[in-house]
Amino acid sequence: MKILGIHYGHDANAAIIEDGKVLFAISEERINRKKFYWGFPFQSIAWCLKHTDLAPQQIDHVALVNLNAQQDTLGNTLPNFYERLNRRVPQFASVLNLPLIIFDNLVQGNLRRSIARSMLFETLKDLGFPKHKVRFVDHHLAHAAGAFFLSGFRDSLVVTSDGKGDLVSHRTYLARDNYFEYLHESPDFNSIGLFYSCITEYLGFKVLRHEGKITGLAAYGDPKKTAHIPPPVSLSANGMSTQNNLIPEARFNDVYWGYRQFYEEDPQLFYKILTTKSAVLFEYARYATNQLFKKSFSGLEKEHVAAFAQKHLEDVLVKLVHQQVKRYNTNRVAMSGGTFGNVRLNQKIAELPEVDEVYIQPAMGDGGLGVGSAVWMYWDLSEKWEHEFLEQVYLGPEYSDDQIFKAIQAVGLPHLKLDDIEGEVGKALKNNKIVGRFHGQMEWGPRALGNRSILASPQDATINETLNHRLNRTEFMPFAPIILEDHAADYFVGYASEQLAPRFMTVTYEVAPPKRNLIPAVVHVDGTARPQVVRESENPSLHRILSAYLKQSGLPVLINTSFNMHEEPIVCTPQDAIRAYQAGAIDILAIGNYWVSDESLLPKS
Ligand SMILES: [Fe+2]
Repeated sequence: MKILGIHYGHDANAAIIEDGKVLFAISEERINRKKFYWGFPFQSIAWCLKHTDLAPQQIDHVALVNLNAQQDTLGNTLPNFYERLNRRVPQFASVLNLPLIIFDNLVQGNLRRSIARSMLFETLKDLGFPKHKVRFVDHHLAHAAGAFFLSGFRDSLVVTSDGKGDLVSHRTYLARDNYFEYLHESPDFNSIGLFYSCITEYLGFKVLRHEGKITGLAAYGDPKKTAHIPPPVSLSANGMSTQNNLIPEARFNDVYWGYRQFYEEDPQLFYKILTTKSAVLFEYARYATNQLFKKSFSGLEKEHVAAFAQKHLEDVLVKLVHQQVKRYNTNRVAMSGGTFGNVRLNQKIAELPEVDEVYIQPAMGDGGLGVGSAVWMYWDLSEKWEHEFLEQVYLGPEYSDDQIFKAIQAVGLPHLKLDDIEGEVGKALKNNKIVGRFHGQMEWGPRALGNRSILASPQDATINETLNHRLNRTEFMPFAPIILEDHAADYFVGYASEQLAPRFMTVTYEVAPPKRNLIPAVVHVDGTARPQVVRESENPSLHRILSAYLKQSGLPVLINTSFNMHEEPIVCTPQDAIRAYQAGAIDILAIGNYWVSDESLLPKS
């Protein structure tokens, strides 16, 4: 059974699975070079078919993410619907847009939802996928299914959390005995993810993009400085969901209350909301949270505000998971949704005494929804509970040596083809060179795991400043380490080889105190690091580079950061990698078996 999974909206993406196994997955941003591209993933779908050599007629089913909020993901206005689906905007859509939107907002977007739905069917029909093959899958169900069915767990608590998706911000399921049981949820206006995003925005960073910076910055702050500030989101009375304290409980689901609040507090904003958004309570939660922050954080240093956000996020979600694990008597947790990109939060959950194993879907944000929706549909149609742990996430495009050679030749850079490029990379890293490694299939998800990575020595902490300057980045967390699996337990407190999260850089560990001085460039101010543990079977080339560096330096650890320039998506094609090299991001480009560098750095053959 071949299923195509499609997520349109923030970080649009597509994936193909066959009998439950992921064959190919990619985010549109990697192809069109627009970070977290918000739209319909036309090019990703084309790549899925090209890579698997399948025609649309050979696809058995299409899973389309979002069941209840098509109008949100297509951009809320009629002209947006047409533009995002590459269609000409008809005159009526422009003329009727405003009256329709005002009316439709008062009935919570039902009219636009059905227009969006039929437009999506039309678009897919034009691509060769008839309506009878297409089904909509709920946003959080796709997050949850992706986490559970890729974890290899037989049974588990499954928890999702994000800003919002399909009118919900968190959901809990219990996967057990061939059954995926819905347990609890939090509506979007009670979102703890929204709270974290509001702090991100308050501190001058971009929402849905820079939340990781807040996690890094938080380690420098002191949560005691904000202990008097009431948290806007807390656990509900029964401890099973989250609750926004700025919306009275009696007003939940009362959209007219939301409009009235806007009107009373700021009539200008009221008209803006009425003529744009359908999710009025969510918008009110955002507005009230921002107001609270402005009032409470005035004069406070950024790091203390970040520490408030991190502590509060951990307080709420760790407690929620803890109570649910105890209540449903399970010791495994599978997690997904953008909130679980927070590696510190994940560490706290992994450290709960009742929790033996955690798995965070490697593409935990909406970039993983194409896979998640397809995996859900497979289980739903086949009811085959058997599933295997997804060992590696190199699921994107790859390029032959011939294609790479032509790309290098086109720009006329000095280069050499090497038999043992990994050995030479190991030597260059020992000599403190910064190497861009481009190899095999591109990673699925936000982390570069060695195939589109920048590698450097972890021995000098000042490399963080140098490299961030060269890449034009601002980061508060040091670069992440990669380590040979045989050595991981010596360096990271509590590491055990059966743990799944460190294979994908989705959790932090305390660095063993005697090792901190050896690898200062990857140890955060709080003594933690978020490692990727490398096994030979998963990435032989990366394993060879680490082994070569170990031979040269005595250290089994390297810096691994994503191969991209400032605010750009991770490189996908050889041309992208060459452009980053030409912009001065790296000293050496090790691309396939080709070494590209200044003449002075070419290895002596
Ligand atoms: Fe999401």
